[in-house]
Amino acid sequence: TRVLPVETVDYLVIGSGIAGLYTAYLLARSGRRPVVLTKKMVENTSTERAQGGIAAAIGAGDSPFLHLEDTLEAGAGLCDPEAVRVLVTEGPERVQDLVEMGTCFQRTDEGFALAREGAHRQRRILYAGGDATGAEIQRALCFQATEQKIPVLEHNFVVDLLVHHGRCYGALVCNELDGRLTVFYSQAVILGSGGAGQLYRQTTNPPVATGDGIAVAYRAGAEVTDLEFVQFHPTMLAVPEGPPFLISEAVRGEGGVLRNVRGERFMPGCHPGAELAPRDVVSRAILAEMQSTGAEHVFLDVTHLPEDTLRRRFPTIAHTLAMLGLDICRDWIPVAPAAHYIMGGVRTNLHGETSIEDLYACGEVACAGVHGANRLASNSLLDGLVFGGRIVERILTRPAALKPNPHFSYSGLRNDRPVDYPSLREELQAHMSTYVGLSREAAGLERTLEFFRRHEYLEQCPAQSPEAMETRNLFQVGALVTEAAAARRESRGGHYRTDYPEPRECWRKHLIFKRAGTHE
Ligand code: SIN
Repeated sequence: TRVLPVETVDYLVIGSGIAGLYTAYLLARSGRRPVVLTKKMVENTSTERAQGGIAAAIGAGDSPFLHLEDTLEAGAGLCDPEAVRVLVTEGPERVQDLVEMGTCFQRTDEGFALAREGAHRQRRILYAGGDATGAEIQRALCFQATEQKIPVLEHNFVVDLLVHHGRCYGALVCNELDGRLTVFYSQAVILGSGGAGQLYRQTTNPPVATGDGIAVAYRAGAEVTDLEFVQFHPTMLAVPEGPPFLISEAVRGEGGVLRNVRGERFMPGCHPGAELAPRDVVSRAILAEMQSTGAEHVFLDVTHLPEDTLRRRFPTIAHTLAMLGLDICRDWIPVAPAAHYIMGGVRTNLHGETSIEDLYACGEVACAGVHGANRLASNSLLDGLVFGGRIVERILTRPAALKPNPHFSYSGLRNDRPVDYPSLREELQAHMSTYVGLSREAAGLERTLEFFRRHEYLEQCPAQSPEAMETRNLFQVGALVTEAAAARRESRGGHYRTDYPEPRECWRKHLIFKRAGTHE
């Protein structure tokens, strides 16, 4: 065993996107002392990349009830209605909090400007900077972290959570710059570490989205659920050698239409909502067009929309396209579906509590039941806010005194075989993209499970480089996603099986995984 340096903090918040920083901000405002760990730089988050915006029922003629109905409809029978009720009723005041923190949402003479996105019957998406909502929210969150003097420790990666007798008392943390391991003891750990888009070759997520929070929680014995439900965003930019760049659903909300490479519109024949049908429907329709035309993409056409609207609403998209030689006002934009959001995650109750005492989770890493089988557009930033807020309310009911911690002694991980992490990651992404992507069937899922079984040894590999740790986590989460997808013999929301193409009433239930045994 090795003796490691120790830090004792009050609350350890893992992740620096909306879930982590908002939770830390509320704790600090309430006189508690959080420390935030983030594995790269503070702004390297999915929040920062969000374009479309944040949904809240604040418009004239809108109501939390209508927002609830749309969320339940998109969730395809698997949302927890009580969790959704919490999301939509508490959402507007949390959004107001963001405004008070300094977020400048777009306004009109009548109030906040509201955009429309897929499967929303109303304009209810607040946005900022045209299509740079996430960057604006991240800016305000970082500003407040500085104002509140919240320590944000960058380049610190959680290797594993410390759990004793079902209670989480801290984390083993590796500093990626010098490789040093430190034991952080804390009264509670809050996971807000985002999603797992890097399971797939094509993703809108940043490189940091490697499922770390789900993996460490699962290894620590927490329940994880709904992992078979991965959302593919219909429209990621698809130009050879282009960046992995999202073309916001708000573009279709403003009237953008999809065309196959022959120039034909295809969505009106697929769904009454046409281009604004739920994301899983649009993504699969695009995939079908790509397969039938043999093309690597379809087109998003906004050339019929007024030039000033396009440049004012979508400056970031217009600029990125211009760098690639495309004019948003004149050229059709090549797009294809890409992994975007994982609906499942660490299972929580309505207060962000996981099945491990003193371990909380919120945002994409968590699953409180608000997204069901398919998340409604622009509900994810809201989810991080609302459940982050609820976690703090729960923590504040507890005494601030530090509980005695068991002593942690580190015996390290052992592995004698050399591991080529970059090529393993590519192999994993190839399996996930081919067999556990937008469309799945038994043989491919079994093949992928076999791939994961061959690499079970990775769990014991020394986790001393970020690459090794991320790969270990991706394998952990990839295996769980595949296992859940193989078990669910039906199609629902983001999970589509060609061998079971319909939803089945007997599958209107959740798969819950817990280390050493699964139960429903
Ligand atoms: C987008 O702008 O299309 C993304 C919004 C979301 O995923 O909620």
